[in-house]
Amino acid sequence: MAPTGNESLTVPSEDCRRAGGEVSYEQELTSSIDTVWIGKPLHFFETLDSTNLRAKLEAEAGAESGTLIVADEQTAGRGRRGRGWESPKGKNVYFTLLLRPNIKPDRASMLTLVMALAVAQGIERTCQLSPQIKWPNDIVLNGKKICGILTEMSLELESIAYVVIGVGINVELQNFSDQVRATATCLREAIVTSVNRAKLIAEILKSFEELCACFLKTCDMSILREDYITRLVNQDRQVRVLDPKGEYIGTARGINDRGELLVELEDGRMEVVYAGEVSVRGLYGYT
Ligand code: BTN
Repeated sequence: MAPTGNESLTVPSEDCRRAGGEVSYEQELTSSIDTVWIGKPLHFFETLDSTNLRAKLEAEAGAESGTLIVADEQTAGRGRRGRGWESPKGKNVYFTLLLRPNIKPDRASMLTLVMALAVAQGIERTCQLSPQIKWPNDIVLNGKKICGILTEMSLELESIAYVVIGVGINVELQNFSDQVRATATCLREAIVTSVNRAKLIAEILKSFEELCACFLKTCDMSILREDYITRLVNQDRQVRVLDPKGEYIGTARGINDRGELLVELEDGRMEVVYAGEVSVRGLYGYT
């Protein structure tokens, strides 16, 4: 691996393998991942500042499309809109996938929706739960957030140099701050048995590989749109659209082929909501 200048923040997992024949998280990941190119190669870290930051360093050093960064703990996990992401050790899932898709830059945001669908499918297969998606890319269970996705892109002239898609899933109960607790939950709150994080990641990657192939056929959401809408927690519900140009209320009516949310206003007009600066809330709470 090429030096990245960030080595002081990482602890190579080889130093941390458990003794006594117990299968480590990393070993289980390596044996569970069953994909053609997604998640290959895999770089596992016991501790990292942020898997997104590491993935970007790997990308700058020439890492190939499909490279996966997984950490057991993040010391500076990053969320959307400049927020942090609580990332305690041994409890949750933190990974980032590096892609070099041959698509126009204005299509890249849809990869986040593709990943949201893959996470929902992966959780369903692993935990026998039916997660929903809060547009554009929060995964929710019982109306509360269990997963966030942070996608970042680097451009070279007019084309995409790379995209990194970071996924954080709350698996075990944790000491959420009161503010976060109001809107967040974890998988362990919904199921009795413990969750195998390696198997969960492997299922998500398998789903993503299949869904991404569908997406790349048309470079839009046309093939995946119905599946996405089926899981859309906002569907046919009143939403408050927090647009910097002015807040408004309407009813969510699915997404279009470009992954934009369709919101029907009281007078019947349809607004098309682009994810960028806008956030969408339920009228009486998070969803
Ligand atoms: C959000 O705010 O909803 C997005 C949260 C994304 C968190 C994940 S955890 C793995 C990856 N590394 C990061 O630093 N952030 C993302």
